Amino acid sequence: MKKGFLALCLASLAAFSVACGADVNEGGSSSADSEDSNVIVMGTSADYFPYEFVDTANGDEIVGFDIDIAKQVAENLGYELKIEDMDFGSLLGALNAGRVDFVMAGMTPTEERKENADFSDIYFTAKNLILSKDGSLQSLEDLKGKKIGVQLGSIQEGIAQDQIQDAEIVSLNKIPEIIQEIKTGRIDAMVIEDTVAKKYLAQDSELTTFEIVDEEEAGSAAAFKKDDELRDKFNDELKKMMDNGDIEKLAQQWFEEEAEPAE
Ligand code: ARG
Repeated sequence: MKKGFLALCLASLAAFSVACGADVNEGGSSSADSEDSNVIVMGTSADYFPYEFVDTANGDEIVGFDIDIAKQVAENLGYELKIEDMDFGSLLGALNAGRVDFVMAGMTPTEERKENADFSDIYFTAKNLILSKDGSLQSLEDLKGKKIGVQLGSIQEGIAQDQIQDAEIVSLNKIPEIIQEIKTGRIDAMVIEDTVAKKYLAQDSELTTFEIVDEEEAGSAAAFKKDDELRDKFNDELKKMMDNGDIEKLAQQWFEEEAEPAE
């Protein structure tokens, strides 16, 4: 795609030099630079407390750990950050279609995703759990033949497929929908990240979890279009934030203190 675009630029050099130049400067994205070269558009799926969620108490603003990192990086790079909220499963498509310049959504850089996107360094890691409201479900074997909820397009979908025998996998777009289905008993259990499960466990004493033994930790990274130099600029800023303790502070703020139910 990039090659095709370059060829187009060369073929119509005179007419398009400004547009092509802007595109290269801004890292190959069209969403931001076609309208305002100072705006950078981030795609996210704001159903993932405390990474990104809609703060209903504060004018429905999208806030969270990822958002604070993105804001800081954008500011350091001299961009104004704009956030586009969509279903998790649509994010990489939107990235490659140029509707967003990058993605931050607690997204794990898997081999399959790396075929279509370049990822930043990992800035946070977490583990996956099984959450249900049935205390008798305590191991993967207990889930045999059960209905397991997962977010569409997430690694949890793959974990459920690979690890649970004969399960009926129900893929839904939003995490709160899956929690709701568990509460009403339409789904038996779900695969969910421990950091995200924490809030729901604190809010509802009926819910229980068990760890998936043998499952590796999953990291979060920002995704960029392939060969986009924005990835390297982002990584430089991310590294500074890791070195100066900013990421650690934000993690403390969002995952330790704020992961309790809102007062
Ligand atoms: N870490 C998992 C993945 O990359 C789940 C991320 C879900 N993120 C979200 N904002 N809903 O597949």
